[in-house]
Amino acid sequence: MSFTRRAAVALVGVAALLSTAACGGDDGGGADSKNVEVFTWWSDGGEKAGLDGLVSRFNTDCAGQTFQNGAVAGGAGANAKSVLASRLQQGDPPDTFQAHAGAELLDYIDAGQIEDISANYDTWGLKAAFPPGLISNLTVDGKIYSVPANIHRANVVWSNKKVLAEAGVTTDPKTLVEFFAALDKVRAAGVKAPLAVGKDWTQLMLFESVLISNLGAEKFTGLWNGSTDWNGADVTTSINDFKRLLTYTNSDRDALDWTDAEKLVMDGKAAYQLMGDWEAADLDAKGFTDYGYLTFPGNGSTFQWLADSFVLPKGAKNAGGTECWLKTVGSAEGQKAFNTKKGSIPARTDAVPADYPKYQQSAMADWKSATQVPSCAHGAACSQGWQGAANSALGAFSTKQDVASLQKALASAAGQFTKK
Ligand code: GAL
Repeated sequence: MSFTRRAAVALVGVAALLSTAACGGDDGGGADSKNVEVFTWWSDGGEKAGLDGLVSRFNTDCAGQTFQNGAVAGGAGANAKSVLASRLQQGDPPDTFQAHAGAELLDYIDAGQIEDISANYDTWGLKAAFPPGLISNLTVDGKIYSVPANIHRANVVWSNKKVLAEAGVTTDPKTLVEFFAALDKVRAAGVKAPLAVGKDWTQLMLFESVLISNLGAEKFTGLWNGSTDWNGADVTTSINDFKRLLTYTNSDRDALDWTDAEKLVMDGKAAYQLMGDWEAADLDAKGFTDYGYLTFPGNGSTFQWLADSFVLPKGAKNAGGTECWLKTVGSAEGQKAFNTKKGSIPARTDAVPADYPKYQQSAMADWKSATQVPSCAHGAACSQGWQGAANSALGAFSTKQDVASLQKALASAAGQFTKK
């Protein structure tokens, strides 16, 4: 069923694009095109505000070039990625698109769909600008293929302070046991579904956080590189904990995007939501200020990261314009314009914390001191195939709640997709 929907979205997207091209005009795709089509899924709220910030820098840095917005709405690229896949397959790439650093980027490299931009790194002095760990996540066989715009944190719980105060929850839970106790308290105060969650990928994020709590950073990372067994008892415990967490969530979860679940928190219909820190920017953009944030209970000082990066696709119509876009993305000014509005922290190490909102200042400090683990739901830890398999397994679990089936499906996905 989800395949049919995704396929339909892809077809609509491709049809729309073909009809745009057929109309001709400046963006007919000639070699002399000055349009830079930037393909993202940042179409609204804090995500759009971040993109707008970057575009304003691009307009200053890249006079003579025109930004063309190729955004396809849907959190985590749920719709955008299938549209992009069709376009790449048909030899109709946008001038640039967002790709997560790590395993997801490797998919595009392995498929020969993006260019090596190592020479630009040298010209723009980028190797020294980014942390060595991130550079190594972007490097394949000595070559670099994308420019990171940011670092996001995935394992953050956002809360409605008023709902918590009314329920008498006065301290942030630090363990899963304390989290269950807080959720019970909020429910006893009359909030039926105190933990807001959305569809598959948002459930995968919640589950990954539970895994971090139960396995710790090192074993969690091992799940993605083959050194931790998905059939282990600690994974079973995690699925059971996750199952219990679902009992506190909204029953319409499988139909909601992350922003719909966020609205439940804003409206006081839920107290908590686990979501990446794009939520900070989105709540700000929507004018909701009475929110709190905490690291997912039990995650200690683990920072689950992901990074949005931009690439130069093979066959881009305006490669020169794209290079200017990429230079802006990697520049100190570009990163500031983007990240102050996006909820993320700059990938560059030379940013000035005082330039950033309060949340990002705390994330910048944590990024330096915390243990870093990658996110599968956002492409740092796992390939797109693996992520798709995990999302479907979580989707099935949401309905059937069968612990053994979920563990079996996750172990089989790991067997299929772990790089040997
Ligand atoms: C992630 C992306 C973030 C944010 C989020 C929600 O995959 O890296 O920047 O956009 O999806 O849509």
